[in-house]
Amino acid sequence: MDPGTENNPYLGFVYTSFQERTTFISHGNTARLAKEGGDPMLARICGTIASDEKRHENAYARIVEKLLEVDPTAAMMAIVDLMNKKITMPAHLMYVGHDPRLFSTPLIYIVIHKIANEK
Ligand SMILES: [Fe+2]
Repeated sequence: MDPGTENNPYLGFVYTSFQERTTFISHGNTARLAKEGGDPMLARICGTIASDEKRHENAYARIVEKLLEVDPTAAMMAIVDLMNKKITMPAHLMYVGHDPRLFSTPLIYIVIHKIANEK
């Protein structure tokens, strides 16, 4: 997968700012689904992961804020560049070979449930 960051640190920091937000939301949603599905341990695990992703987002967003402060033109060009390319998530092309709908369900929920059911 090519996130379109072209080894440019400005593009990389902008990309990860959005990507970390998305993983925060995804894992948070998985935690909610696990809780609704009656699996409080899985909900807690996914909630912890979501919190971690939020910390990552905050770190990268602070870097982008600093870039906007010290080099606003290049930072804005990086933001515009990535918005034009559209943000592509790392797993959007994942396919396990038998279920094209698999990733309409959050992956971590499937993986952790599979592991839990094997024990
Ligand atoms: Fe992360």
